Amino acid sequence: MKILLVDGGPRKGNTWNIAMKVRDELNKLSPDIEWKELHLSDINLPLCIGCSMCFRKGHSYCPHNEMVQEILNSIDESDGIIYAAPTYNLSVPAISKNLIDHICYALHRPRYFTKKALVISSTGGVGASKTTKYLAGTLAGIGFNHCFQLPVSTSSWNAYQISPKVKQKIERISKKFYLDLAFKKLHAPSFGVLIPFNLIRGMSITCRPGSEYEAADGTFWQQEGYVDQVYAPGIPLPFYKKLFGKLMYQIAISAFKNKAVTYKK
Ligand SMILES: Cc1cc2nc3c(=O)[nH]c(=O)nc-3n(C[C@H](O)[C@H](O)[C@H](O)COP(=O)(O)O)c2cc1C
Repeated sequence: MKILLVDGGPRKGNTWNIAMKVRDELNKLSPDIEWKELHLSDINLPLCIGCSMCFRKGHSYCPHNEMVQEILNSIDESDGIIYAAPTYNLSVPAISKNLIDHICYALHRPRYFTKKALVISSTGGVGASKTTKYLAGTLAGIGFNHCFQLPVSTSSWNAYQISPKVKQKIERISKKFYLDLAFKKLHAPSFGVLIPFNLIRGMSITCRPGSEYEAADGTFWQQEGYVDQVYAPGIPLPFYKKLFGKLMYQIAISAFKNKAVTYKK
C-alpha cells in the first residue's frame, strides 16, 4: 500500500506533529506501507497566475506544469493520500490554496476515482472542521472516492501536546482509513459530488472538439467516454442517484443550450 503524505503548511508545527502520530498509527496497523512525503514549503511553486490554460488547453500548458506534474505523478502512484494543513483564518494557508488553484481544473476533468484521502487540520481554537471540509470537498470534486477528516483544536501556536482524547480520535480514524484502503472499498458518490460532475458533463458539450469555443474539458469528457455516464464507470451508484445525476445533466444541457463559455481568441 502506497501513501503520499502531503505537508500543506508553511512549516512543520502542530499539524505536522498530528500527521506524524497518524503515520505511527498506520505503521502499527501495517508495517508494509510505502510512504512518500511531499512538503509544499520545499517546492516553491509560483502563484497561479490565472491564465486558465489548464482549463482551456490542458494542464500541460500551465507555466508551472513541470512542478505541478510531479505532484500529480505522486498522487497517481499512491493508493491514498494524507493531506495535512493548519487552519489560517478559518481556511487553508496560502501555500495550500496555491496548490489547489493549480489543480482545480481537475474539478472540470475529475480522475482519482479509486483513491482515498485523510485530511488533517489543526487550529488554535475554531475553524479546523471548516478547513478539512473544504479540503475534503475539493478532493471529492477531483474524483477521490472517499475522504476522512481529522480536525483538531490545539489552543497552541507551536507547542501542542496531543491529548488522550485526540489520541483516541487519531487511532480511530487511522484504523478506518487503513481498512478502507486495504479492502479497496468503493463508495457511491454523494449528491454534492454528483451535482458538479453532471453539470460539468452537460457544460462540456458546449466546448467539444469542433465547437467555436473548443476547450480541453470538451475533449476530455468525449475521450474518456464520461459524457454518457452519470458517474465514473466501476463506482457503485444506486438507482436514485443515477436518476438524480441524469436530472442534473438535463439541467446543464438546457442552461447551456444557447450559451458557451467564451475566451479571448
Ligand atoms: C496566519 C495564522 C492564522 C491563523 N488563523 C486561525 C484561525 O482562523 N482560527 C484559529 O482558531 N486559529 C488560527 N491560527 C492558529 C493556528 O491555527 C494554530 O496554532 C495551528 O495549530 C497552527 O498549526 P501549525 O503549527 O501546523 O502551523 C492561526 C495562525 C496563524 C499563524
